[in-house]
Amino acid sequence: MKTLLNQSNQGTMPEVFSVIPTMDVVIFPRIIVPLLVLDEKIIKGVNQSLDSSKMVLLLAAKNQVDDQGGIGTSDLHQIGTIASIMRVIQIPEGGIKILVQGVQKARVLEILTQDEMLQASVEKIEQELNDQEELAAIVSKIKTLAEQMAASGNTFSPDFHIILSKMQDPERIADFILSHLNLTITQAQELLETKSQKEFLEGVYYYLTKEVETAEIKEKIISDARESMNQSQKEFYLREQLKAIKQQLGEDDLEEIEMMRTKLETLTIPAENKKEIDRQINRLEHTAPDSLEATVTRNYLEWIFALPWGVVTEDNLNIAHAKKVLDEDHFGLDSIKDRILDFISIRNLKKDGYSPILCFVGPPGTGKTSLGKSIARSLGRKYGRISLGGVRDEAEIRGHRRTYVGAMPGRFVQIIKKTGSSNPLIVIDELDKIGADFRGDPSAAMLEVLDPQQNKTFYDNYLGMPFDLSKIMFIATANNIDAVSEPLRDRMEIIELSGYTREEKVKIGQHYLVKKAIEDSGLEDKNMSISDAVLQELIANYTRESGVRQLERIIRTLCSKAARILVEKNKLISFVPSNIESYLGPRKFIEEESNKEDQIGISNGLAWTIYGGEMIKIEAVLMPGSGKLLLTGQLGEVMKESAQAALSYARAHAEEFGIDKKIFAKHDLHIHIPAGAIPKDGPSAGITMLTAILSTLTGRAVNAQYAMTGELNLSGEVMPIGGVKEKILAAKRNNVAHVILPIKNKHHLAEINDITADIDIILVNHANEVLERVLLPKNKKSIKQR
Ligand SMILES: Nc1ncnc2c1ncn2[C@@H]1O[C@H](COP(=O)(O)OP(=O)(O)OP(=O)(O)O)[C@@H](O)[C@H]1O
Ligand SMILES: [Mg+2]
Repeated sequence: MKTLLNQSNQGTMPEVFSVIPTMDVVIFPRIIVPLLVLDEKIIKGVNQSLDSSKMVLLLAAKNQVDDQGGIGTSDLHQIGTIASIMRVIQIPEGGIKILVQGVQKARVLEILTQDEMLQASVEKIEQELNDQEELAAIVSKIKTLAEQMAASGNTFSPDFHIILSKMQDPERIADFILSHLNLTITQAQELLETKSQKEFLEGVYYYLTKEVETAEIKEKIISDARESMNQSQKEFYLREQLKAIKQQLGEDDLEEIEMMRTKLETLTIPAENKKEIDRQINRLEHTAPDSLEATVTRNYLEWIFALPWGVVTEDNLNIAHAKKVLDEDHFGLDSIKDRILDFISIRNLKKDGYSPILCFVGPPGTGKTSLGKSIARSLGRKYGRISLGGVRDEAEIRGHRRTYVGAMPGRFVQIIKKTGSSNPLIVIDELDKIGADFRGDPSAAMLEVLDPQQNKTFYDNYLGMPFDLSKIMFIATANNIDAVSEPLRDRMEIIELSGYTREEKVKIGQHYLVKKAIEDSGLEDKNMSISDAVLQELIANYTRESGVRQLERIIRTLCSKAARILVEKNKLISFVPSNIESYLGPRKFIEEESNKEDQIGISNGLAWTIYGGEMIKIEAVLMPGSGKLLLTGQLGEVMKESAQAALSYARAHAEEFGIDKKIFAKHDLHIHIPAGAIPKDGPSAGITMLTAILSTLTGRAVNAQYAMTGELNLSGEVMPIGGVKEKILAAKRNNVAHVILPIKNKHHLAEINDITADIDIILVNHANEVLERVLLPKNKKSIKQR
């Protein structure tokens, strides 16, 4: 403890003093300090001085000295303070505690070690005195600084400046300040060694300013630290609050964003896509959670994360398994099934081989779509279906740009998300019904989808990044391949499915449709039965179609009737031809007898339509007029021309048929083709129209047991036509006995032996061969064969 002391306490001073080295303190004159003395030598010296002058010399040690080493005389400063011993207390454990007060500065002349005591002979140093005004100037600087310290709060104690302001004596002021400063030994020693009062006071002032500076710096560091801590604490606190609020509202955004980031890391996405997604996550993070923009971005990211990036299913390449599945689902269709088995064999040899894009073409209800699904099942791929019927907007394929409100990805990306696999089998249904208008051409986008060179990086506008479609197996379906654009057709392997014969339909019905319908209506096999005869009846009199869709529907109707009877009356039911009417109502397609009658001016034509083959009647009548040709029944241009050609042939050969040429000048000829719903065009009705025309001109009836098809040229030659199989099937459906075909279509028959076995096919080369057969002699009727 340091205190102040009046100079008046000074006593007389001998020349030689016992020395007390001080370790960590420099004692100035007038200052009182307690000291602990343990060293025997020093204690002895103290005791000796107590016996005489009670004065000792306090010398500060230069360096910290360890306990054992003791202090060498060279370790002590040469200038110290002579102090008087005020009190001595013996410590029971050994050593003494003394209270001393500094009296006078002194310089060591010589260290004396005698009688095992540390002593020194000294020379007293008097402090030079200065002009009081000079000192006052320094004092006033000190006082101003003290005021500033108080004002800024950087003071030693609250009353430091008050006490100071009341002091006048420069020495006392210096002592007072000294007692507050934390000086190092070196600094304090320097102060002690100052020669004049002024130097001393300035030294004190200097260290006081230093003290203030360090205090200010310390304060600044502390306040800076506090400030930065406050800032981050504040942010932390606000974030926590926000989190709590969001949790309350069920909008756990921050967690959501973190989850997105973590998930993004795990996805197998091309690097450039990842970058874009990351950008969108950052964007979401920095937009207000309830803003429209955030909703749009969140939707987008939901889409991104829902897509099966890099998720692929393993193909089942077991051929026996595939065959079993395909046969389980569909009757016949052998060539198509073979094609699929070929594909699987190739895959067995080359895992990442090229996937063919198949296009199934055929009349409705022939199993195109359901076959696609079955192929997916046989390969063990996920299945998806996209119907392009009526799609006119390119954005349906490519997606809308995200700037639209309610924008969505295109159909392909949507279906991929739904299947959850990036190598599903996708059936592109009704490819021929795709449209085009001002909103762009979807078939142009389809070109990209179906192009193996381009679909690896298919660009969806909504995703805003490429998506790989190349692992998908595409199967397209169409009723009319002619309606599919040439470049699209080029990319696909066209596989034709034709309509089914009655026999085939019976088999499909019995082995597939009935089974499926029973199962779907919750019945069991034993609950009901449908005989083959019933199926025949249904096919002949309740349906008229190439495929089996209507048949399937009727069978389902029967099943639901059976289910009702089972539930209501607990009765089993077996359907037979005689009871069908009571369940399904009267037959829908009654074979009109008039249809089978030989008539003048009416001939049976066979037409091919996208719905399969059709038998149509062509009517020709003569009426008074001026030789004009009238055509009705919504005929296409080509058909009109072929009617004209037929008339020209008839006129040119009128004589051969015994027709009076004058008849042409006085009459108009009207050709009508009923059944407005069936689109009629093409040249294949040439011989049928000629037959009708000549019948009405000659008055000879047409044999109704014949149906015919063939293009006619002006020399009477019968030219080949398309759709042979469908046309023959149509003739069979209509129960005609004979079909006339161009001889140039002969090669088509080789492939359809199974359906021509029970119908008479007549191949002709010239119109005369047709007319000979079908135009009956006047007033003669044909003999009915069926
Ligand atoms: N060969 C067959 N064996 C068993 N079932 C068949 C066969 N052909 C068609 N079906 C059944 O007939 C129904 C109709 O078939 P699907 O829907 O595949 O016809 P589609 O050819 O796609 O017709 P559309 O051209 O009208 O789309 C399906 O339930 C299908 O299972
Ligand atoms: Mg279909």
